[in-house]
Amino acid sequence: MAAFIQCVYFISAVMPYIVGQLIVNARNKGGETIVEKIVANTSADTVTLEFLGSDGSFVTQFIDFKSEVQIFRIYILGEEELGQTQPQVICFITRFMRSDFITADAMSKLRQKNPTAIRTPEEEREMNIYTLDLTINLDKAYMISPYVFNICSEAKDGIYGQESDLRAISKSLDKDFITLISAAAELIPNKYGKCRDTQDLSKPCTCQVHTCIGWYPCGLKYCRGTDSTGKEVNYRCGIKTCKRCLAFVYVASPKMKCLWDF
Ligand SMILES: *[C@@H]1O[C@H](CO)[C@@H](O)[C@H](O)[C@H]1NC(C)=O
Repeated sequence: MAAFIQCVYFISAVMPYIVGQLIVNARNKGGETIVEKIVANTSADTVTLEFLGSDGSFVTQFIDFKSEVQIFRIYILGEEELGQTQPQVICFITRFMRSDFITADAMSKLRQKNPTAIRTPEEEREMNIYTLDLTINLDKAYMISPYVFNICSEAKDGIYGQESDLRAISKSLDKDFITLISAAAELIPNKYGKCRDTQDLSKPCTCQVHTCIGWYPCGLKYCRGTDSTGKEVNYRCGIKTCKRCLAFVYVASPKMKCLWDF
């Protein structure tokens, strides 16, 4: 029963409630423990994963399975010496790939035998690099996912998306791409140099934000057993766990809002 080694397992009985929550202590490469909170809402068909990074950034990954949309919201601490007393709040709206997270229903049924255990993922997945070439209009973002408005309403430093993602999302939503993009998004001209090469703090430039989801359930494991009649059956008995780092490349305006990217 190797699948039980991680001690994150399924409760097979029907659960009397629909919102499952998991607190996971994930160890990162630097040896620090990041506490993740993962909440599944099966009636909305959504999952929210949140953590406070070791650099003080607060990251929310929100998955809307119905719209196949994934929203990353990041609070980044300011440079207090430079008068940035408020954190920056940025949203990145991307396409969600079904192979990248277990379903909200499966997530809601996960429990841990030892909730205080420090966990390390079994697999590190390739870095996802998002090149954000759109700004998203908050008031029209419901056309992409009904959850964007609430999650990103504080993202005064920008809501960004990728044209290629929006094209795929419009297909799965069965909406016309041109209508969607002209109402909900605006193309960002691709003409700005990297922030690390830009001296003038008042000029826009191409900035990068990195973060890593240090532990998440990326697939299911099945065990073989026998049912009450003695027939051999496969049943869900555990999860495969992964880590994935993400890079978001977008236009910061001005460079003053991208002081970490040197
Ligand atoms: C779960 O989703 C439903 C439907 O969107 C919503 O009404 C409810 O408030 C959500 N529950 C929680 C705990 O977020």
